[in-house]
Amino acid sequence: MKVLVLNGPNLQLLGLRKPEIYGRETLQDLCDRLVPVAEELDIVLECRQTNGEGQMVDWIGASAGMFDGLVINAAAYTHTSVAIRDANEAVGLPTVEVHISNIHAREEFRHTSLIAPVCLGQICGLGTSGYEWALRALARHLTA
Ligand code: DQA
Repeated sequence: MKVLVLNGPNLQLLGLRKPEIYGRETLQDLCDRLVPVAEELDIVLECRQTNGEGQMVDWIGASAGMFDGLVINAAAYTHTSVAIRDANEAVGLPTVEVHISNIHAREEFRHTSLIAPVCLGQICGLGTSGYEWALRALARHLTA
């Protein structure tokens, strides 16, 4: 099975950005750490990051037929982007939403995810290991 991991704006700054919230691991470290997990689960993995909302919409739109599932950390767009939600709903691929931090324990504007209602589930507050749990949840879902 093929899974696309999408990371949104400012996540290229992982490791530098607010390490007390997001940790010291870089995006590259995170993606590298997912490789053996993907191998264990028989997942062919592709990790991408963009700061652009339109780019994310394009990638989600093009994922139908190319991937079996999505892991999305839309970062700040989580709270604002009807376009990303609509793209996700349109392609209908099983999607796990991930946030490194616990968005429900932070500022009120982070409590709402426009994307969560069109996802299989949401994992947040578990740090970068949330991506690993997301892959495991998708693999379980896709092979059930
Ligand atoms: C985030 C949480 C968002 O509120 C924030 O805008 C981010 C990162 C997270 O992974 O915890 O950029 O998605």
